[in-house]
Amino acid sequence: MQIIRDFEALAAARKTLKQSGESLALVPTMGALHAGHLALAEEAGKRAGKVAASIFVNPLQFNDPADLERYPREEEADLAKLEAAGVDLVWLPSAADLYPQGFATSIRVAGVSERWEGEARPGHFDGVATIVAKLLIAVAPEIALFGEKDFQQLAVIRRLVADLGLAVEIVGVETVRDGDGLALSSRNAFLSAEDRQRALALPRALQSARNQIASGEPVGRALAAAKQSLVDAGFLKIDYFALIDAATLEPLSEPAGEMRLIAAATIGGTRLIDNVAVK
Ligand code: PAJ
Repeated sequence: MQIIRDFEALAAARKTLKQSGESLALVPTMGALHAGHLALAEEAGKRAGKVAASIFVNPLQFNDPADLERYPREEEADLAKLEAAGVDLVWLPSAADLYPQGFATSIRVAGVSERWEGEARPGHFDGVATIVAKLLIAVAPEIALFGEKDFQQLAVIRRLVADLGLAVEIVGVETVRDGDGLALSSRNAFLSAEDRQRALALPRALQSARNQIASGEPVGRALAAAKQSLVDAGFLKIDYFALIDAATLEPLSEPAGEMRLIAAATIGGTRLIDNVAVK
């Protein structure tokens, strides 16, 4: 596995790959890798000749400085996991390379970025869109993979790529969960054993609301019951728990077309997000 830190080395590696005629897939991450990230790498290996991953804790997308400060950094363990997953190239860019002195460009995806996470975390998606555009331009992969765990992020990136006309196929990968149903997240490491147990109320509330809506229960009633179950479990702040149109991300008060249930809530000081498809 090739480990690359500086821009020039990346450009050289990219050139060699291009000459070999192999297609390249990119899995962008912020590190602290878990089986969800590795599922993206595995899917990447099925779709391209070579797999690259990037690890960069992007300061631009953290609206809360304390969240950035405490974000887990586990470079050595991450590299071992990527190597074991068969990744060919890892890029660990420096902030100085990505954000040179005087950096003044921001990419803003209107519409799909505005509600939900966009509202709860002002500026977050501008930071995501800007860094993802930079990573895609620098690595120039044929394919890039992102998790459905961050459903709105995936929608923002699809819009970004379409609007900028980037020649890359965006692939969404299903959320990987622990055996008990909790979606894997680098932030789960912050949960105490007790909060980890209580956090299960989140995937359970999503499943139960999905079943209720699928069986004809009024949407408003299903959402209210789900929110109440989170409060009962000890979630202190619910940013949103909503039924949305899977393409536009606009809220739905009645079932229609392709739908998604999305939620964000905080337990024991840790903010969790999750979502499920509704058929
Ligand atoms: P990060 O949170 O490290 O996630 C990297 C990728 O892994 C994202 O595409 C995310 O959706 C996916 N992922 C996370 N948990 C997952 C799970 N349980 N199952 C499947 N996929 C999962 O998302 C980011 O980093 C950043 O915003 C990034 C896109 C790298 C830009 O900085």
